[in-house]
Amino acid sequence: MNTITGKYRKTNDFNEIVLERRSVKVYDTEVKISREEMSEILAEASRAPSAINMQPWRFLVIDTPEGKEKLAPLASFNQTQALTSSAVIAVFYDANNTEFIDDIFGKSVELGYMPQEVMDMQLQQVKPYYASMSAAELRDVNLIDTGLD
Ligand SMILES: Cc1cc2nc3c(=O)[nH]c(=O)nc-3n(C[C@H](O)[C@H](O)[C@H](O)COP(=O)(O)O)c2cc1C
Repeated sequence: MNTITGKYRKTNDFNEIVLERRSVKVYDTEVKISREEMSEILAEASRAPSAINMQPWRFLVIDTPEGKEKLAPLASFNQTQALTSSAVIAVFYDANNTEFIDDIFGKSVELGYMPQEVMDMQLQQVKPYYASMSAAELRDVNLIDTGLD
């Protein structure tokens, strides 16, 4: 059994990554991404930027044969990809992500990324701003954020 790092070469060459990227239509079923590696991948992906640092993405990893069988009919044109991949990551956004705003900013202060007074000032502006957004505006900003992830 190959791991993602076994059979396939990793590269950090930007031109190679951009020019040799392809939309994959069928995966090598021998390749298995371990849960540990998947956690690393998601932790790294979660370093993506998001508006106001709201990090609204939530992930559902489907990596069992039963899960993929269940998913396939919902994947329309992508049934082969769903069935042959090691895992499918369904990316959702949390429509109630503003509930976590104090925790997110508080963590930045705790880790020394942000002074307390900046958090206090930011929260004063951000909370009413998010509260004033229409459902459509909120959806747009959340789709952009999760799309960047
Ligand atoms: C918004 C968007 C949606 C796409 N949806 C699918 C899809 O559902 N299934 C698929 O196999 N490829 C999908 N593609 C990939 C395109 O078919 C592919 O990018 C295009 O044919 C060029 O091929 P390449 O990515 O290999 O260069 C999508 C691409 C974009 C930008």
